[in-house]
Formats: sequence, C-alpha cells, structure tokens
Amino acid sequence: MSENEKVERLLKLREESKKGGGESRIKKQHDKGKLTARERIDLLLDKNSFEEIDAFVTHRSSAFGLEEQQFLGDGVVTGYGKVDGRPVYVFSQDFTVFGGSLSETHAEKICKIMDLALKNGVPVIGLNDSGGARIQEGVSSLGGYAEVFWRNSMASGVIPQISAIMGPCAGGAVYSPALTDFVSMVKNTSYMFVTGPNVVKTVTHEEVTSEELGGASAHSVKSGVAHFAEENDAVCLKNIRKLIGYIPQNCEEKVPVKPSKEPDASKAEALDELVPLNPNKPYDIKDVIDGVMDKDSFYEVHERYADNIVVGFARLDGRTVGIVANQPLSLAGVLDIDASLKGARFVRFCDAFNIPLVVFEDVPGFLPGTDQEWGGIIKHGAKLLYAFCEATVPKMTVITRKAYGGAYDVMNSKHIRADYNIAWPTAEIAVMGTKGAVEIIFRREIAKADNPEEKQKELEDRYSDEFAHPYKAAARGFIDDVVLPSETREKLIKAFELCHNKADRVPRKKHDNLPL
Ligand code: HXC
Repeated sequence: MSENEKVERLLKLREESKKGGGESRIKKQHDKGKLTARERIDLLLDKNSFEEIDAFVTHRSSAFGLEEQQFLGDGVVTGYGKVDGRPVYVFSQDFTVFGGSLSETHAEKICKIMDLALKNGVPVIGLNDSGGARIQEGVSSLGGYAEVFWRNSMASGVIPQISAIMGPCAGGAVYSPALTDFVSMVKNTSYMFVTGPNVVKTVTHEEVTSEELGGASAHSVKSGVAHFAEENDAVCLKNIRKLIGYIPQNCEEKVPVKPSKEPDASKAEALDELVPLNPNKPYDIKDVIDGVMDKDSFYEVHERYADNIVVGFARLDGRTVGIVANQPLSLAGVLDIDASLKGARFVRFCDAFNIPLVVFEDVPGFLPGTDQEWGGIIKHGAKLLYAFCEATVPKMTVITRKAYGGAYDVMNSKHIRADYNIAWPTAEIAVMGTKGAVEIIFRREIAKADNPEEKQKELEDRYSDEFAHPYKAAARGFIDDVVLPSETREKLIKAFELCHNKADRVPRKKHDNLPL
C-alpha cells in the first residue's frame, strides 16, 4: 500500500465512523425530535474541542448473523472535550446503531472513558439513548453493564458523574444513571423504568404508557430519580454545561470562582420586609436566596420534586455554594420523607465535592401522620441529619423564621458543627409553635378559665414573648448573631472568607453506616 493509499484508508474509515447506522436511521432519530449522538456531543462541548477515542472499535459477536453487521464505534461515541474551557469525558450512545444497545465492546468503550476520568480527576458525562443489553450478546452484555456499574460506584464522590437520558433506558440499564450524581431527562422522548408497561400490565393489571410510567415528569415530580426535566435535547445539553460550571473537577479541587455580582438592589432591600409577622403566612424562600446570593446565580436542582425543600447551586461573592432551604410556600416548609431524601442527597454531593453549604431555615417540624411514620420518616429524616452531621465543608445557617423541635437540630444547627449560625429578628427558635405549646402546657388553666379563648390568647402572648424569638438561642451562643435580613449577604461573605481553608475530619472508618 502506498503512502497515499494509507492516508486515504484512514480518511475513509474516519468518514465511515461518523455515519453511525446510516441516513435512514438518522432520519428516524430526527423525526422523533431527537438529535444524533454526535450532534449531542457538539452541543454539549465547546466548539471543536471534542477528541474521539475508539472510533474504530467493532463488536466481536457472530450470533444471528451479527458478524455481517459491523458499525465503526459499535453504537457509542466516546472521548473528551471541554465545557467552558474545563475538560470533561463524555460518552454518547448512538441509537442508530443496534438501537444504542450495549454490547461487550460498547461497554468496554464506556469503561475506558470512566477509567481515564477517574485517573485524571475529570467529570464524566453520559448521554444515554439505548435499547438496553444487546440481546444477541446475552451474558457478555450483562457483564458489560456490571463493569460500568462497578466503575460508577468507585468513581462516586471522586469525580462528578452526570447522566442525560435522551431516549430509552430500561431494565438493569437504569442503574448506571441511578448511581451517578445528577440525572437529566428530556420530556416526551426519554423514559426510565425497571420493567415496562407490558410487564406492569401482566403483573399488576395497571395500564400505563411509557411516558406515564417512566417519563421525565414521572421521575422529576414523583420518584425524584431525575433532577432535571428538560424540553428537548438542546436545552438538556445547555443546562448540563451550566451545571458543570458550578462543580469542582474532582473531590480534591476547590469550587470554581467567577466574578462576584451583587444581587439586584430591589431584591436585597426587599429582604427586610419579606417575612410576614403572622407566622402562618407564607412567603417565597427563593426571594431570600435571590436577595442574598450573587445576581441570577441560583440554579435549582430537583425543582419539582418535594418542593417543600429547595436545593440548588448559587454563587456567593463568585464562589459556588450549595443551598438548602425550607420553602414556606409548600406544606409550610415542613420536613417529610421526600424532602429529607432530597436534602440529604444534595448535602452529601456538596460535601463530597468541597462545595460549602448555606441553609435558609424556616421549618415548623416533621410532617405528622401514618403515611410518614409507616413510610419511615424516622430513618429518612435521619439521613438528612446524618448528612449535615458528617459534612465537613464550611456550613452556614440563616434562620429566617421558624426553627422548631427536632427540625431545628437537623437543619444544620450549631450543635452538629455548623460554622456560622445567624438568625433574623423574625426568628422563632423553640421546641414548638406558640399555639401548640400553649395547648399542651396550659391545658388545665385554659379549661378552668371563665373565658377559655381569652385565656388562651393571653397565654399565647406570654409564651410568644418568652420563646418566639432568637434571643434565648443567642444567649447560649447556639446562634452567633442576630442580623438584619439586608445584612445577611455581607455577614455570610465575611464568615466564608475565614473558612476557605477549613480542615475538619470525621473519625477514621471503613465507611459510614448512614441509615438507609
Ligand atoms: C439489539 C436492539 C435492541 C437490543 C433495539 N435494537 N434494542 N438490538 N439489542 N436490546 C435494534 C432493533 O433491532 C432495531 O434495529 C433498532 O435497534 C431500533 O429499534 P426499533 O425497535 O426499531 O426502535 P423503536 O421502535 O424506537 O423501539 C425502541 C425500543 C425497542 C423500545 C428500545 O427497540 C425495544 O423494545 N428494544 C428492546 C428493549 C429490551 O428489551 N432490551 C433489553 C432490556 S433488558 P434495526 O436494524 O431495525 O435498525 C436489559 C438488561 C440490562 O437491558 C441489564 C443490566 C444489568
């Protein structure tokens, strides 16, 4: 072969590898409103930054005439590139090749990327669009999945792992995304379930569509499996770029720093009037976040799941922080099972990747009821408590209003080693709310009174004067300061400055035994 022929051979193979499963299958993909594996990578990464690895890999199977069907790359495009100048590894399943199904070699390509990412301390982004295990390869394919799962587990807490679900993801295949840190689903074109509608119908006689059972809405609202539900492929990829922008590259790095941006003056000034005097009146905790954090920096995670707690990333003086905030607008901001799980998972992510935590607290307690008790609010609430206790990143708490009962302890209290705890003058730090407390401790006095209603009111006023304020906690040093709401941003920035080099350790152990 001449030199020219050798070059031509390479160029031809390169060209061929770009074609995936061919024009007609690409058209089918587009007709469904989906982009191809390569188009997705182009949108995900900085322009011209993608470097492909393993473009020439082909499967090794010969069952059912498979040896006749060879596609370069074997149904997954893998490599690395940059997001806003920072490196990431990426794999993107190509539905046009055997439905993106996972063969032994397809799995090996993904594993190679994951091994490199772990070795080099770089995030991995997986774009999933696959009919699952390559049926013709049987157990080799199942083994391939397990190799991926093992790597997901080993990489957990070392490098960020992000999954986009952009097509089918069914059966055991769901467990790789489930092991990653964030799952983003595309509405109407993606679904995730362990068993599909047909099996469901046979076993439980329920009739559901794929979308109802495991679409983006189901998982971003009901199950919490998905952290984000996006309108289409392009928005999904754009938002993964945004998400990556908040997160360190690995567990050894500090958070990325951007220029600081003061919040809108109107939002910052509004803080002083935000919390209603009537403790039963709600307000939007996101107005607090917007008034304190850098302008337009809040990026909410799990927006539609358990909205009685708000979690997400923001920037404070240019540095990423993780926000956990009770939301008085939803169930009065009470902690229930889903809120506890959502909060705990987010706190653990932030702690694993050195992202400091800011808690905005207005919590009446844990949600009562048989649903909650039998559903295990004790063990699930304990997860949130555990997550805050074990977190060694800088931890700050701002009590805006209620901090009652066990929830006071759980929500990053001083006692579980928060670094800086402050309260607004509207804070009420007590075992329980005024009405409930008076009804319990003065039951007999109220019953005996000539005018029980009047008596109750009088006792409530007394209790409120005595307990419904932050100064008892301040007197014990359980909070460090009582501040005007409009002073909060400056106070937090100053406190964080001192914590940049915080070095806290948990006792040496094999691993913890978080209450699962
Ligand atoms: C091999 C597959 C495949 C698979 C799809 N294809 N899934 N090839 N193994 N798992 C191929 C099809 O033969 C077809 O090839 C092409 O991909 C596109 O598939 P279509 O069926 O035409 O597409 P569509 O109508 O959009 O339906 C997509 C689908 C369906 C819903 C994903 O293909 C499907 O039900 N596939 C099987 C899903 C499944 O049961 N997988 C195993 C799950 S168990 P041509 O040549 O016509 O383009 C599992 C266990 C993992 O994954 C365990 C891990 C521990």
